[in-house]
Amino acid sequence: MNPSLSIYDNLGGEKAIRQLVEAFYPKVQANPLLGPLFPEDIRPVMEKQFMFLSQFFGGPSLFSDAFGHPMMRARHLPFPVTRERAEAWLACMTEALGEIGVDNELKDFIIQRLSGPAFHFVNTP
Ligand code: HEM
Repeated sequence: MNPSLSIYDNLGGEKAIRQLVEAFYPKVQANPLLGPLFPEDIRPVMEKQFMFLSQFFGGPSLFSDAFGHPMMRARHLPFPVTRERAEAWLACMTEALGEIGVDNELKDFIIQRLSGPAFHFVNTP
């Protein structure tokens, strides 16, 4: 991991974010706590996540350019996000990062950065 580069560049840019999203959603869909929350046609969600993570990791601001302020907690309010679901989401992301070959140091750093938002989105006991 090169600490003077963004997460986006450490991962390897657009291609890596695409791979990450492709690895992540099958795990989300297969997870008993997460799968039922998502629509059968997962492609539009994958595209939005690609746009969001590009920006969240320090790459181009694709999500805001298309949809305005992310307001991610508000966008999750229609869904019952529990602590267990936040943990499951992070576990799927950890697995996906491993699958695309991200080393442990960078992986731990990324999961740490995503943990804040994930637990902040919890809206249901
Ligand atoms: C904490 C556990 C989480 C759960 C249970 C969850 C669940 C969901 C669900 C059900 C959707 C809507 C799918 C649809 O369009 O029908 C969604 C959308 C989305 N989630 Fe999450 N999510 C979680 C955490 C996160 C985190 C940590 C991030 C990024 C930091 C994130 C980013 C997004 C994005 C970018 C969208 C698309 C938003 C849009 O439609 O504009 N989610 N999520």
